Amino acid sequence: MTTLSPKVFIKTLGCAMNERDSEHLFAELREKEGYERTDRAEEADLILINTCSVRERPVAKLFSELGAFNLIRKERAKIGVCGCTASALGEKIFARAPYVDFVLGARNVSKITEAIKNSRSVFTGTGYDESEFAFAEGRFNKYRALINISIGCDKQCAYCIVPATRGKEISIPSKLILNEAKKAVESGAVEVVLLGQNVNSYGSRFSSPHKKIDFPELLEEISQIDGLKRIRFQSPHPLHIDDRFLRVFADNPKICKHIHIPLQSGSTKILRAMRRGYTKEWYLDRALKVREMVKDATISTDIIVGFPGEREEDFEESLDVMRQVKFEQLFSFKFSPRELTAAALMGDRVEDKTASKRLWRIHSLYKKQLNEAMDAQIGKEFDVFLELADDRKTLYGKSHNFYSFRIFNGAKEGEFVKVRAVGIKNGALIGEAVEQTR
Ligand code: SAH
Ligand code: SF4
Ligand code: F3S
Repeated sequence: MTTLSPKVFIKTLGCAMNERDSEHLFAELREKEGYERTDRAEEADLILINTCSVRERPVAKLFSELGAFNLIRKERAKIGVCGCTASALGEKIFARAPYVDFVLGARNVSKITEAIKNSRSVFTGTGYDESEFAFAEGRFNKYRALINISIGCDKQCAYCIVPATRGKEISIPSKLILNEAKKAVESGAVEVVLLGQNVNSYGSRFSSPHKKIDFPELLEEISQIDGLKRIRFQSPHPLHIDDRFLRVFADNPKICKHIHIPLQSGSTKILRAMRRGYTKEWYLDRALKVREMVKDATISTDIIVGFPGEREEDFEESLDVMRQVKFEQLFSFKFSPRELTAAALMGDRVEDKTASKRLWRIHSLYKKQLNEAMDAQIGKEFDVFLELADDRKTLYGKSHNFYSFRIFNGAKEGEFVKVRAVGIKNGALIGEAVEQTR
């Protein structure tokens, strides 16, 4: 008689680092405990929610989802809360959701096999060093390999909870990163995405003695890997975007010409209060340098509105940066006070109504700019790598510079095609295959 493998359902909230942690959680469970993955929570023996704590909304979502999972779970199925909210709230989670079996923080992924065996266990230390931990291999996307190059964050941006949930910044030895990238390519990946809260401070601290290497050098080394077609990274910090890095970004053909440069605010006064370490002028200088050096580069950003002390004229400066840089992609958020951060204690709060209005103004300017940017792409040719969309019917893909494309004629999944942009639908460009390129 064969015994059935236990099944795990994983729900990931939050950023790409959480996505990578979910891959590691699953790989550990599969390799060491024989788990299979399921996309149906009701048939799972283990339900994991990998949480985000960056704003209040994802935290509220966690507790509503937990309640729903508790209702549909199989008898004796376990529920584990992982990730950043696990780190931030620890055992307080049991008080709000007593049916939770264990809590596993963002810096404790390797403890998953211990956690499932110890009811009510809580692993939330941020001192625990996972920078050289050999996780079992695994990824959820066939073609795209997420690879951590550093964990934690040494910055202390006043609004941000990440340093509290992910601990001190530690770079992962370059040899491990290269091996991981090589293995990924051998098993079919065409693209690697290098992850860190601050990718361009790579190399400032390793957990054990290591040769001197910085982010531009790491990029060059990774680009030597045969068969690897595309390198992406997220996210660089504006403060550390220097000319040497930009030279590599511009010149290395494997590096995709899209860069996320988180602005947060266009006002130097607010940037100072946020402890971002740069001024509006520095930010503009760097972003416009990207425009000048790489003609087809796209730039994305994050903006927070309603940070304590933000006056109308400060907010106008964020709009001004938008007008000058013309971001191709923009994520905007209302300031959300987070426990454990300096900004949570700041006075001079902005009224919610005012913050909502500002958010709306950012959205409307962005929408207008995005339409203009997309219109300007029609008729141009792009190199697009094709994947199957979630509905498993349409093909979609990203251009080198991160435009989304949909619906092609004469093209297949898993191929690079040269396409001409012929239209726009639901925020994506519609491409027509011109010829296969690689
Ligand atoms: N390391 C990344 C940020 C990770 S958090 C960086 O430095 O860019 C992702 C984004 O969430 C941030 O860029 C910021 O715009 C937003 N964010 C973080 N904390 C926030 C808070 N307390 N309220 C609102 N938005 C926040
Ligand atoms: Fe948070 Fe700032 Fe670190 Fe980004 S750089 S993770 S915003 S503290
Ligand atoms: Fe990522 Fe959210 Fe944690 S953005 S680092 S999962 S708080």
